[in-house]
Amino acid sequence: MNLVVVSNRVARGKVSEPMTGGLAAALLPVVENSGAIWVGSSGRVRDGSQKEPFVEIEALGAGALAMLDLPAAHYGGYYEGFANSALWPALHSRSDLILASQDDYGSYREVNAFMARALLRFRKPDTMFWIQDYHFLALGAELRELGVTQPVGFFLHTPWPARSVIAGVPHHGELIEAMLAYDLIGFQTSDDCENFTSYVQSDLGLAVRDGVVISRHGTTQVAVFPIGIDPEKFAQQAAKAVSHPDVSRLRRSLNGEKLAIGVDRLDYSKGLINRINAFDRMWTLQPSLARTASLLQIATPSRGAIEAYGNLQNELAKLVSDVNGRHGEVDWTPIRYLNKGFSQTVLAGLYRAAQVGVVTPLHDGMNLVAKEYVAAQNPADPGVLVLSKFAGAANELDTALLVNPHDIDGMARTIATAFSMPLAERRMRWEAMMARLRASTIQGWFADFLEALRETRSEVCASAPPLLAEPPASWPLRSVGTGAGYR
Ligand code: F6P
Repeated sequence: MNLVVVSNRVARGKVSEPMTGGLAAALLPVVENSGAIWVGSSGRVRDGSQKEPFVEIEALGAGALAMLDLPAAHYGGYYEGFANSALWPALHSRSDLILASQDDYGSYREVNAFMARALLRFRKPDTMFWIQDYHFLALGAELRELGVTQPVGFFLHTPWPARSVIAGVPHHGELIEAMLAYDLIGFQTSDDCENFTSYVQSDLGLAVRDGVVISRHGTTQVAVFPIGIDPEKFAQQAAKAVSHPDVSRLRRSLNGEKLAIGVDRLDYSKGLINRINAFDRMWTLQPSLARTASLLQIATPSRGAIEAYGNLQNELAKLVSDVNGRHGEVDWTPIRYLNKGFSQTVLAGLYRAAQVGVVTPLHDGMNLVAKEYVAAQNPADPGVLVLSKFAGAANELDTALLVNPHDIDGMARTIATAFSMPLAERRMRWEAMMARLRASTIQGWFADFLEALRETRSEVCASAPPLLAEPPASWPLRSVGTGAGYR
């Protein structure tokens, strides 16, 4: 079997290099071992009338990484426009932030079609395509237009909202109908899956039986595949990272003080304003926690060209400075606030150094930081996870301290409780969470999805006509490394 995995962002680096976004970091180890080719954006754009893609290919484990320059004329409308100013807010139930022009939608469709043409190069008779995330909702339909009959699956890393919210996205009907060209659509939680099927039944008037949608494209299986991590590997990384210079310096600087850690992309869905307000409230309600408990908040800048993100960055910087001004002392800073990315290796060590992990998004598909924080803990003296009930991870990590991120006082009290939780309770909660992580790993997620995808199309595959394996000779291509035969 040949596997082609597609996502907008790919992980080019190693775990020892800074990486942005849960998807890329999560996929890297499994894609690397699978021998798949992973196709995504190079982060560069290319001008002019490029009809065909410019692909840079390098080796990735047993497979290859193929990075495409996306068309300059459409990149802004696709990425900052439709994907991140219309779909992202809608998927996170922020209808108030949905902004999309007709041109943005056109660019989104153009980039999906462009990616589909690029993928033909990697098609072999036994290829399966696995498309990731909201950037490529229409990619399956574009592949079918080009005559691709192989299995094509899709996994959504974000939540899927209620019908009335997704209906705020211009062209929602056309787009969701296009999604039904996928053979399999995977969601993080059963709520997401139910919201999707409810839309398909009520708004598109289609029949759904036993998780199978029947449409003009044929049948589409919809199912839940909660994404996991490799808890053992992460635990080992965390134990090793204790001696990393960044981690040792942090520990030394604490002088016995307790630490909470938050690690997020700087995004309005992450609930950062509410979190800082909750800490502010906690230090006001419990002055004894001043000097004895502080917060390290890492907020990696993201999508800075979008107004809502620029505004958030300014608001957050001001709020942190106000709170530090209010509660700080000459020799104590309540919140250490960093706007940069860290490697997985360093993060693992930082998580282990913190007695409390705060993961309090207003809405999140899964949130792998929650899982990584748990896996990084010292089993003999584990920290406490404070987790939003609106993160997908709350379905599994139900022995975390679950909070409503809109209830600032409630969060303040819960964070204070976390700082003072006795060892026996911490261990009991942590062991239950580790058991859940071990039962649902990233390797299991990867294998389960592919198995389900294979099953959806096994008959179609068997009867598929032979396909071109070679790309048209005219395509510009530059290869780096061995690329496992993709040259
Ligand atoms: O599903 C969420 C996601 O695709 C994750 O990879 C990550 O949280 C984020 O979006 C990445 O966004 P961007 O590539 O725009 O930084």
